[in-house]
Amino acid sequence: MPEWFVPASTESRGPLARRPEAVGSRAAIGSAKCAPRPRRTIAPNMRHLLGLQLLPATDLRELLSRTQRAKAGPAASDPLASRPLAGRLVANLFFEDSTRTRNSFTAAAYALGAQVIDLLGSSSSVNKGETLIDTARNVEAMGVAAMCVRAKQSGSAAMIAKGSGCPVINAGDGKHEHPTQGLLDLFTIAESFDRLGSFDLSGLRVGIVGDVASSRVARSAIAGLLTLGATVTVVGPPGLVPGGLASAASHDLDEVLPTLDAVMMLRIQFERHSDAPPPQGAAVSRGSSIASVREFRSFYALTAEREARMKPHAIIMHPGPINRGIELDADVADGPRSVILRQVSNGVFARTAALAWCCEAH
Ligand code: MLT
Repeated sequence: MPEWFVPASTESRGPLARRPEAVGSRAAIGSAKCAPRPRRTIAPNMRHLLGLQLLPATDLRELLSRTQRAKAGPAASDPLASRPLAGRLVANLFFEDSTRTRNSFTAAAYALGAQVIDLLGSSSSVNKGETLIDTARNVEAMGVAAMCVRAKQSGSAAMIAKGSGCPVINAGDGKHEHPTQGLLDLFTIAESFDRLGSFDLSGLRVGIVGDVASSRVARSAIAGLLTLGATVTVVGPPGLVPGGLASAASHDLDEVLPTLDAVMMLRIQFERHSDAPPPQGAAVSRGSSIASVREFRSFYALTAEREARMKPHAIIMHPGPINRGIELDADVADGPRSVILRQVSNGVFARTAALAWCCEAH
């Protein structure tokens, strides 16, 4: 992908400074530069979902409440029940691999009555030099109701939204944000602690553990958790836990673990580091943020022994894909505290809510 796609100014300002866009309605139009193209008129009610960092609390609670209704099976009077996208097309534009996110967007679109166009980066004209924006505009020209966009570059969903005549949902952009993952994470925590309805998470302490620096999941979760009143601690080795994440940071999982109500484990996202992944257990090469996978595991993996020191009611989360035996042991991932597959199920409802919310204003 051409380096210029994400403006240098966007990439160089550090993790939470990467806010190429505001979230929701016209505020989603970012200031990022791209190749010159004719100006387009943006529909006044256009509603994108590009991140949780700037999403107003009222919109966040509305999306969570819709997630709850989608899961409960909407009442006959609920707009969600009337298959509001019947006869419409929703496009998945995935320029990066995905299992859960893409398929749950598809399931959500079906639940709303839509049909789905799946464009995978590996088989698209991007490989012939077409830009993401041109690709998106061509798909949009087919008359889609919304586009769900995943790409490797931070800010890419906002870039596409800037020139789009239909709602864009960020399905994960580089290290920036993954707002529908954030929604499903928040919903799962609220559900686990009986906070549905109010979505008030005050009094709960959530730990996000591992490769926080590379994680768009962490950025969206932190934003949403703080909005809903939870306390957040990010935990990991210094190279993987940046400062300035608007939450407490620790490098000592053993100290923090017994204080947590929810533990969100993260994979080491080597593909978002400067180096290629090392073989499992091997020392990592120069440029990586950790000395060795083995060392990372000894300090930060959630093993059965560590799990035994958690609060009795505490839950274990992971956005997937799990690297079993690195950040999370198999017994723990599949054990009674794990809500990992419930997160996946809730993802369909969160994405149903997000698609309907974005499209109703269009
Ligand atoms: C993501 O898309 O960021 C994933 O859900 C988390 C990961 O890749 O580890």
